[in-house]
Amino acid sequence: MTTPILSARDVRKSYGRGSNRFDALKGVSLDIHEGESVAIIGRSGSGKSTLMHVLALLDTPTDGTVELAGADTGTLRGASLNRTRNTTFGFVFQQFFLTPNASVLENVVLPLKIAGVGRRERRRRGLAVLEQLELADKARNAAVNLSGGQKQRSVIARALVNDPRIIFADEPTGNLDTATGAVVEDLLFGLHREQGITLIVVTHDEELAARCDRRIHIRDGRIVDDEAVAA
Ligand SMILES: Nc1ncnc2c1ncn2[C@@H]1O[C@H](COP(=O)(O)OP(=O)(O)OP(=O)(O)O)[C@@H](O)[C@H]1O
Ligand SMILES: [Mg+2]
Repeated sequence: MTTPILSARDVRKSYGRGSNRFDALKGVSLDIHEGESVAIIGRSGSGKSTLMHVLALLDTPTDGTVELAGADTGTLRGASLNRTRNTTFGFVFQQFFLTPNASVLENVVLPLKIAGVGRRERRRRGLAVLEQLELADKARNAAVNLSGGQKQRSVIARALVNDPRIIFADEPTGNLDTATGAVVEDLLFGLHREQGITLIVVTHDEELAARCDRRIHIRDGRIVDDEAVAA
């Protein structure tokens, strides 16, 4: 059995304290193996985004552990935490988080800039991913002027520029019309299939969930179902 790329053990996450305390995750354990595509599904407020943020090391659990490729992440802080996140993960969230007045290229190469990659190399790799996502002609446009689908493709380009092992996507098609959503979905699954990138997707979209190898159903902060989808 290979070591899971991500492993959560009895993860708990509470917000607030005293009578205001809310237990958003109540003991979640799961293993995700490299190359899997996993949908995290469940009602609004069930804890999906919270779980994704903890798995993506964007937030720390109140209790429990998250291992990345067999290494405990609980001791990572500051620069080493940023580096780990930045070199291993790509993020595709519903709210695009693009800097509106910066160019598409500048937005896309931001993770490389954070990683200390030099200007020329940033440009080369940024243009290469924009090419891959058929956005090369928009490289110099301000992000604010892109259409919704182009923004989401830019976000995917930015998620890819560091050659990540895992892409985390939270409602990646939530703000897009059906046709554009389908394009973005095909892109994500294409990357999964062709580059073996592990895909972890939070979604309300049944069809999107059905395309994943596995569906993890969250209810009130617990996993209530974890099913492999028949191929
Ligand atoms: N910073 C916070 N402070 C207090 N409560 C929070 C905080 N963040 C999330 N919660 C609560 O934790 C619960 C889980 O939130 P989470 O965002 O994980 O839900 P979700 O399953 O992603 O929902 P949605 O489908 O609506 O995005 C919710 O009840 C939410 O109100
Ligand atoms: Mg959410």
